[in-house]
Amino acid sequence: MNITGIQKIIYGVEDLDAAARFHTNWGLAPGRRDETSAEFSLGDGSSLALRRADDASLPPNHVNWLHFGASTAREVIWAAADQATLNAIGTELSKDRDITEDADGALHTTDDQGYHIGFAVSSIQDQHLNLPEINTVGTTGRWNKPAEAALRRRIHPLRYVHVVYWVPGDTVDAIRFYTNRLGFVITDDMTVGGAFMRAAGSRDHHNLFLQKSNEGFYGFQHVAYEVKDLDEVGMLGEYMENAGWQTNVGPIRHNICSSFSWYMWNPAGGCVEVLSDIDHCGDDWEVRKINPRDPGFYGHSWSARPEHRGVRPAQWIED
Ligand SMILES: [Fe+2]
Repeated sequence: MNITGIQKIIYGVEDLDAAARFHTNWGLAPGRRDETSAEFSLGDGSSLALRRADDASLPPNHVNWLHFGASTAREVIWAAADQATLNAIGTELSKDRDITEDADGALHTTDDQGYHIGFAVSSIQDQHLNLPEINTVGTTGRWNKPAEAALRRRIHPLRYVHVVYWVPGDTVDAIRFYTNRLGFVITDDMTVGGAFMRAAGSRDHHNLFLQKSNEGFYGFQHVAYEVKDLDEVGMLGEYMENAGWQTNVGPIRHNICSSFSWYMWNPAGGCVEVLSDIDHCGDDWEVRKINPRDPGFYGHSWSARPEHRGVRPAQWIED
């Protein structure tokens, strides 16, 4: 299935004003807003919708990670490359589950974990930024001029990269739905700890991570947004903290997927991650078997803020 990435995320939120303020601070472009909902868009045309948690048109709440009451992402809409892909997804999934089609032609159903997912023909626009001009030891990428990044101030995330869900039960079963039915490709395999997967039409190291939980957690965990470079990760994280929002973990450089990331708690549910410099890979990527009990497996190659190192999932995995 030629799924290319994430088209839209729809949240049900208890505090619409706080969730809207958070995503405005986060740098998304505000769109339609009324008493019950707020819309935002990203630089590539993907979008985000906030609706009140009691909106009867939302898919049911399916989360046990209640840091913000009932607020959580209710549905993730995946981008299909074309109508033929969307039709093929509908044919495949209708074999064993109910599918509804909305007025815009998007399909809606659930995965094997009960998470509500949708599919729409992609309206995402390709973006191609130039590599930053940087200087390093003995090599000049930028001569006789200051760094452009030093002049930036306000940061706007450009696109979604991935979403992460908790899996309380058998991760192998949960993963199989996405690989066998939707063509996702495992890029790094944590066996009992879960797996990182990219959509078949994406170069991102992962568009989906299903992560084992031993506390009974289930539900939406976080969504990652991409910005231009490392400066923008740092600038957005600092901006959010100055606006009063709380860091979850960061800034860090991940060992898996290499991204430079900063996570914030999101009043709409779960966390958001801003990242840059994530691994790009294709079918010739060498899949790693990663032991989630290895204390360095997920950890941080460095952290400028040791008070926010967070909890390593290795501590959560039972023998
Ligand atoms: Fe992430």
